[in-house]
Amino acid sequence: MTKHLLLGQTLQFHANPLHDDWQNACTVDSAGGVLIEAGRITAAGSGADLRTAHPDGQNLITAGFVDAHMHYPQTAMIASWGKQLIDWLNTYTFPEESRFGDKAYADMIAGRTMDLALAHGTTTLTSFCTIHPTSVDAYFEAAATRNMAVVGGKTCMDRNAPDTLRDTAQSAYDDSKALLEKWHGRGRATYAITPRFSPTSTPDQLNALGSLWSEHPDCLMQTHLSEQHDEIAWVKSLFPTARDYLDTYESHGLLGARGLYGHAIHLEPREIDRLADVGAALVHCPTSNTFIGSGLFDTFGLAARHIRTGLATDTGGGSSFSMLRTMAAAYEIGQLRGTALHPSQLMWLATEGSAQALHMSGQIGHLGAGAMADIIVLDLASTPAIAQRNARATDIWDALFPTIMMGDDRAIADVWVAGKPTA
Ligand code: GUN
Ligand code: ZN
Repeated sequence: MTKHLLLGQTLQFHANPLHDDWQNACTVDSAGGVLIEAGRITAAGSGADLRTAHPDGQNLITAGFVDAHMHYPQTAMIASWGKQLIDWLNTYTFPEESRFGDKAYADMIAGRTMDLALAHGTTTLTSFCTIHPTSVDAYFEAAATRNMAVVGGKTCMDRNAPDTLRDTAQSAYDDSKALLEKWHGRGRATYAITPRFSPTSTPDQLNALGSLWSEHPDCLMQTHLSEQHDEIAWVKSLFPTARDYLDTYESHGLLGARGLYGHAIHLEPREIDRLADVGAALVHCPTSNTFIGSGLFDTFGLAARHIRTGLATDTGGGSSFSMLRTMAAAYEIGQLRGTALHPSQLMWLATEGSAQALHMSGQIGHLGAGAMADIIVLDLASTPAIAQRNARATDIWDALFPTIMMGDDRAIADVWVAGKPTA
């Protein structure tokens, strides 16, 4: 049976204050609680006592989720069947991304993506846009309307993409510069210089974007790294003198502490050393890595090297908008690698870890004084299946874990963005 524990300041009457001294007739408990089951109050009293006795009845207030890598233009083609990375890009992704020169379409998908994110408890998105500047304006405008802290940038590609999706080294530099001057630091917006990945940028374009980053070092830089074996082999053939995949970024000024490298699954020892040396951030995209068939990110091995790691949906290579489902996939990948991530580690990755990757620690993804009030309330008994498991919980972690593994947008009871409820 579903239990709800309401915690807060409570007022209870034991007598009629018109007849008795009013002070003896009632109790005000500044930290009280009420347990509700099947429409009735089954216990009332000290919140602390009720919390200990009924770990399964509680909602959990936590920082909003921070998605550290996604592609908002891929929202409408999420869950497209049957392809691995390069074929998936050519078959599904590039045709869809070609539509974002149309501002009205970009506006519609940007708004839809933000609303889906909020419904799933994600209060910050970090997104690739498309090569079209309109797609960047649509993204930051939709976020501003909702007062969301977001990171994004124009995706740059000057080769190995359809004509409709190619810019040049110079136009990528010029457009990215104009967009970062327009958006970076405006309201809650952060600009990320965004070469898609080495196969779709010439060395000239990577150099141009490296120069732009050195001229604007407070911007972030986001790209993809070592996601699939075929991709890595392709990178080797396109950059025959590069020491490894990371070197294609490093030798063009695109390796740094404010760099975000998505996927980073099949890393070589030199790459791991360099990422650790410069303090770069990796982004784990677990539903994407299983959906597209990429491989198993080494969460614990990379954490042992103190490499900052965020967590992300990678929509639409990822198969869910939910950071709960994303945590579940991270858990499953951990199991396949032989180590179970604790619920606290999963929640940390989805909030603080992603915020740290974005260099926004203490501002977002954090439930503490000084942080922006981007907050969610998780219902830990949101479906009958979760509730019946939750009823067996022995402590709060055991009560939370079924929601991580089986929860979705139904588990998001409340979302606050910058101190205001969204619903
Ligand atoms: N590598 C280059 N582009 C993409 C993309 O859109 N999605 C994923 N998952 N990997 C990429
Ligand atoms: Zn991606």
